Amino acid sequence: MGKAGSGSSAVVANPESRIPNPGAESAIGAYLRQHESKPLLRFITCGSVDDGKSTLIGRLLYDSKRLFDDQLAALSADSKRHGTRGGGIDYALLLDGLAAEREQGITIDVAYRYFDTEKRKFIVADCPGHEQYTRNMATGASTADAAVVLVDARKGLLTQTHRHSYIVSLLGIRHVVLAVNKMDLVGFDQAVFDAIATDYRALAQRLSIASVTCIPLSALDGDNLSSRSARTPWYDGPGLLEHLEGIDVQAHDAASGLRLPVQWVNRPHQNFRGFAGTIAAGEVKPGDEVVVLPSARRSRVLQVLGPGGEVASAHAGQAVTLTLADEIDISRGDVIAAAGDPPEAADQFAAHLLWMSDAPLLPGRPYWLKIGARTVSATVSEIKHRIDVNTQEHLAAKRLALNEVGYCNLSLDEPVAFAPYAQNRALGGFILIDRYDNATVGAGTLDFALRRAGNVHWQHVDVDKAARARIKGQQPRVLWFTGLSGAGKSTIANLVDKRLHALGYHSFLLDGDNVRHGLNRDLGFTDEDRVENIRRVAEVAKLMTDAGLIVLVSFISPFRAERRMARERFADGEFIEVFVDVPLELAEARDVKGLYRKARAGLIPNFTGIDSPYEVPEHPDLHLRADGAPPEELARQVLARLGLE
Ligand code: ADX
Repeated sequence: MGKAGSGSSAVVANPESRIPNPGAESAIGAYLRQHESKPLLRFITCGSVDDGKSTLIGRLLYDSKRLFDDQLAALSADSKRHGTRGGGIDYALLLDGLAAEREQGITIDVAYRYFDTEKRKFIVADCPGHEQYTRNMATGASTADAAVVLVDARKGLLTQTHRHSYIVSLLGIRHVVLAVNKMDLVGFDQAVFDAIATDYRALAQRLSIASVTCIPLSALDGDNLSSRSARTPWYDGPGLLEHLEGIDVQAHDAASGLRLPVQWVNRPHQNFRGFAGTIAAGEVKPGDEVVVLPSARRSRVLQVLGPGGEVASAHAGQAVTLTLADEIDISRGDVIAAAGDPPEAADQFAAHLLWMSDAPLLPGRPYWLKIGARTVSATVSEIKHRIDVNTQEHLAAKRLALNEVGYCNLSLDEPVAFAPYAQNRALGGFILIDRYDNATVGAGTLDFALRRAGNVHWQHVDVDKAARARIKGQQPRVLWFTGLSGAGKSTIANLVDKRLHALGYHSFLLDGDNVRHGLNRDLGFTDEDRVENIRRVAEVAKLMTDAGLIVLVSFISPFRAERRMARERFADGEFIEVFVDVPLELAEARDVKGLYRKARAGLIPNFTGIDSPYEVPEHPDLHLRADGAPPEELARQVLARLGLE
């Protein structure tokens, strides 16, 4: 703890608590400033305890002579205040993605450690190696520049080596070190090392990992760790630490014009408006012409401000604030880009997605998608295939479970400025967030746009919804009946429909049983099919309201997320959720279609209320307690809600 090596005497953590205390803050600030000029390398270690991973990390920390075993998260929380107050390095910014995920409720079992040598600062993410921790590993890998993959010299490549390397390649880590550990146990035999190295290079080539360095070592004895070992005279490469010190992380992302995702708009007073964020690509200097996406407005850069004030220029990776020559509207999530070389914007993508939630990914269900500083609503429109993380085999899949990776089509509600992940991690990496509990449920990488947003237009129609409604003398509505099978939805909806017709209104009833014979005849009753069932009927209902109709939808629609998705398709007040509420026992006792009996007998799987959930509406617009009242009375309540009775 706090063992200061040569060149530094700063004590950065409270020796007692392992977590820096408030009193130590200024010391941390001083420390960070002092080491500001040293380049930073973020790396992850992959392997299991059996491979000697803990020994290796422990030894690296020890040998670096600056062992601070406090958690980096705590350090970063403190350095944030300092970093923004004038220290050049802002660790908090580097960790922003993680902090965001933590706020969103994901428990990441990744230990971050911090150490430094004369030449470099390091942040190492120690990720658990087992398959059930794939999401943890991905979290650590998403911000890493390099990966150290450990293998036991006696065992060579294992399934987990394939898995770890796949995740490393998926998340675009360019520099991989194969640490062939426990060389002492194979008598420092060059042939053993060479065979493993050859195997690994073949694997790395298949996975398109650009740079691979293989190092024979013994973590336990310290061979080829912080110094070259005399016991491997046949090896003329660097020791691990020396190699890590030399990895070049500059020019990481493909050269392109400026891309600055705006994290926040800084407006301390009337006369100053600055746009702050970390440059994702390119350079910026005063006088540069810029375009703001998605608005496509143009302006010119007036000032570039770094943490210490005005600077002549800034480049990718630096946190800056820009002021512009014109008063244009820019908000958080917009991207300021070089006017001559702007990024593409699109709303449909092919993407790799790692699923991180216990509840499965269901195509068609809306999630929040966060890319850069932008958050939009998005669905996975199709899973092309699932990829076995151990073998990279492509498998058919209709859903993704925890820790599974899929190749998917994504559909966003609005276009976003982006770059393929392989070109730029900041503009091509995204997370998916659950819309109810704000938990991070997935993380992914954009591969390419399936269509440019600008290529699919809305066609203007002269006769609009209002005109169509006017001619019918009515206000278009959707009455969305939800409830268990046998609750009486269809009976009530049918009565309402008849009454509307008798009163001269133009209405139409969409009933689950009927629509499932036509438009939705390809769908069954799995969760993913129900999601698609509701998505389609919501779109049909939308078209019908556009035609000026009063639409009655009678579907079980058991999931909140899809009822909400349906509601969001309509104008305020247009969508009326009618909860037809009967206790399961009553619906089952009535059993009009004889389906509950069959379901109980195990003849119908995934039956709502039996072995498939019904999520009760929390705030229905109309709550029909259907267990006592006759359907006619309930229909009257619906018409009353429409102001027609
Ligand atoms: S939903 O869940 O996707 O909204 P939908 O309303 O279209 O369901 O269809 C429900 C009707 O299908 C039920 O009223 C019942 O007649 C029939 N059905 C057949 N199998 C099932 C099942 N496993 N669960 C629920 N309803 C089923």
